[in-house]
Amino acid sequence: MTTAIVGIGNIGGAVARHLVAGGEPVVLAATDQSHVEALAGELGPHARAASVEDAIADGDAVVFAVWLDTMRELIPQHARLLEGKVVVDPSNPIGFDESGQPFRTLPEGQSAGSVVAALLPAGAHYVKAFGTLGADALAAGAHREPRRAVLFYATDDDTAAATIERLVRAAGFDPLKAGGVADAGRSRSYACWAASPTPTSSPR
Ligand SMILES: NC(=O)c1ccc[n+]([C@@H]2O[C@H](COP(=O)([O-])OP(=O)(O)OC[C@H]3O[C@@H](n4cnc5c(N)ncnc54)[C@H](OP(=O)(O)O)[C@@H]3O)[C@@H](O)[C@H]2O)c1
Repeated sequence: MTTAIVGIGNIGGAVARHLVAGGEPVVLAATDQSHVEALAGELGPHARAASVEDAIADGDAVVFAVWLDTMRELIPQHARLLEGKVVVDPSNPIGFDESGQPFRTLPEGQSAGSVVAALLPAGAHYVKAFGTLGADALAAGAHREPRRAVLFYATDDDTAAATIERLVRAAGFDPLKAGGVADAGRSRSYACWAASPTPTSSPR
């Protein structure tokens, strides 16, 4: 199975590195094709560069490691290609003001997951994942000893759950379902627990 990673910045780059290290083939895309080709070259034979359209067409799962506004553009453009695919969404409803301060881009009570899931064709298998740790913790946290760090995910879809469990394990983390799409916002809150050095109990 091939995983398309659209967006190879902080999150997409870390996911690509972890999946390739775990033996998973990836196809990478972004806007800057030279950056995509450089990363694919660095990662070796399990990675290749493609256009966004070709990456989505070739992926069995598609990780949209882009900002929510970009997803709002890309998903409608490529909706037909997403039929039958597992769509992985790490987004948070966060923007940054002119002074670099983060702010919420959606009204209180509305999750990024609900927005993205509503854009998808009926046959897509949606899962919220790879967004519960900050990018640095995600990049540094794979294969943690003595216990693996947890990556929470949220989905209402069994196909998406099976795929994300496999990908999270291949990436060097322990997958844990936080609930359905309606619970997606809560999976972010669990991140503190997941990122703690010695997690000893389950999230509540
Ligand atoms: N950073 C974090 O700590 C963190 C934590 C949790 C969740 N998240 C979520 O993860 C997502 C990605 O965040 P990030 O920090 O990885 O962002 P980022 O470093 O800014 O990377 C964004 C990526 O999106 C690509 N991109 C932008 N427009 C595109 C388009 N039209 N088509 C294809 N690719 C496009 C960019 O490619 P080019 O550079 O080539 O333009 C870049 O590779 C966001 O939704 C964010 O909310 C981030």
